[in-house]
Amino acid sequence: MPGTCVIGLQWGDEAKGKLVDILTANHDIVVRYQGGANAGHTVVIGAETYKLHHIPSGILNDGAVNLVCPGVVLNPPTILQEIHGLQDRGIVFTDRLMISDRTHVVFPWHLEEDRVLNDRPVNGENIGTTLRGIGPCYRDKVGRSFAVRLGDMYRPDFAEKVQRIVEAKERILTGFAGPDGFSPLNADQIVQDYQGYAEELKPYVADTTSYLLDAVEQDRRILYEGAQGALLDLDHGTYPFVTSSNSSGVGVSPGSGIAGRWINCVLGVVKSYSTRVGGGPFPTELDDAMGDRIRELGNEYGTTTGRPRRCGWFDAVAVRYTTRLSGVDALSVMMLDVLSQLPEIKICVAYELDGERIDYVPSHSDDLRRVQPVYETIQGWEQDVTGIRALEDLPAGARGYLDRVSELIQRPVAVVSVGPDREQTMFTPEFPLGD
Ligand code: IMP
Repeated sequence: MPGTCVIGLQWGDEAKGKLVDILTANHDIVVRYQGGANAGHTVVIGAETYKLHHIPSGILNDGAVNLVCPGVVLNPPTILQEIHGLQDRGIVFTDRLMISDRTHVVFPWHLEEDRVLNDRPVNGENIGTTLRGIGPCYRDKVGRSFAVRLGDMYRPDFAEKVQRIVEAKERILTGFAGPDGFSPLNADQIVQDYQGYAEELKPYVADTTSYLLDAVEQDRRILYEGAQGALLDLDHGTYPFVTSSNSSGVGVSPGSGIAGRWINCVLGVVKSYSTRVGGGPFPTELDDAMGDRIRELGNEYGTTTGRPRRCGWFDAVAVRYTTRLSGVDALSVMMLDVLSQLPEIKICVAYELDGERIDYVPSHSDDLRRVQPVYETIQGWEQDVTGIRALEDLPAGARGYLDRVSELIQRPVAVVSVGPDREQTMFTPEFPLGD
């Protein structure tokens, strides 16, 4: 029952897509199980860069079947754009992409709700969503009355359902924004557009839950690709500055339909520093020239929105928390090369709250906002590492940094990445990935 899971342990953008793409070679099936078009997974292969939002990063390896499972919220025009983009570049996958008929569908009203509500501060600050309608779509899924699943789009009452929802949504949006504050919703046009999308998506629509349950019994090798990062987890992250799904390791089962007992390896992905997009507390944030330097060195701009990411030092308190939360076996440390030019590097080893030293992440965002990071300073190695292909060839300073991260998080480092290409990835020989 080989099941491997790749989970981001910070606030997303940990370069999980690259890792999934590499691990796909050892797996038969790659699974996306939460989030939606808010995710942006970048995979670089030679001179080609692929940016994926819905489709699992395993699509670029022609041996893997890729599943979009029920926990995902699906934006039909976005996934169709991805499908066409891949086809235009000669990637063949007709029999390798399956989209669950249980996924919930993002409609134009969700985008409007996201836009209108995003201007309202929550706990004193804007969430700063990706404006992809993610929260509103998940809200409707939980509320049920206004929800549409992909399978519903093939039913005779689809048009009637859209008419009913549009009437209600117009009242809700008028209440939130006033009559001029949102783009009008044309139910007939929406029905026509979405019926067109449904027709185009038809070859890929399937019952992924049954497929996966069979695959587990057949001992097929399955790779679960987490989106966003564990600190954005709806229940366990820095609420309310989170996304609307369970983006830590605890989300794999509800999103995919596969019980945790069938997952035997969890790989936690971290950057060698921290980033965050949107609002919310960020204890190690560098609101200074060093933060700007890391942003430029790491090209820290959002894949989905292009927004500059907030940058800061590695936060071992937060990562130790999400490591435990996600059941992580080993770490994958990405973007080590970004730190190579810095004379000094800091790691946050504890927080101070109200004069007291603490080693946990406070559950309330107001408290997390008040913590002061306690840093340990490490001498930088100031040497280009992007051409290094063996861990033992890394400068002693870089190895020391990885050892200290491993010691603080209490997990071995299994993978180290020193650049965006597949080739710039090193695995420790003793760690059995995927089986
Ligand atoms: P939403 O998921 O669009 O509702 O956004 C909620 C919060 O999660 C915002 O702070 C976003 O910037 C953040 N977020 C959502 N998806 C990603 C991602 O893939 N990477 C990094 N941050 C994300």
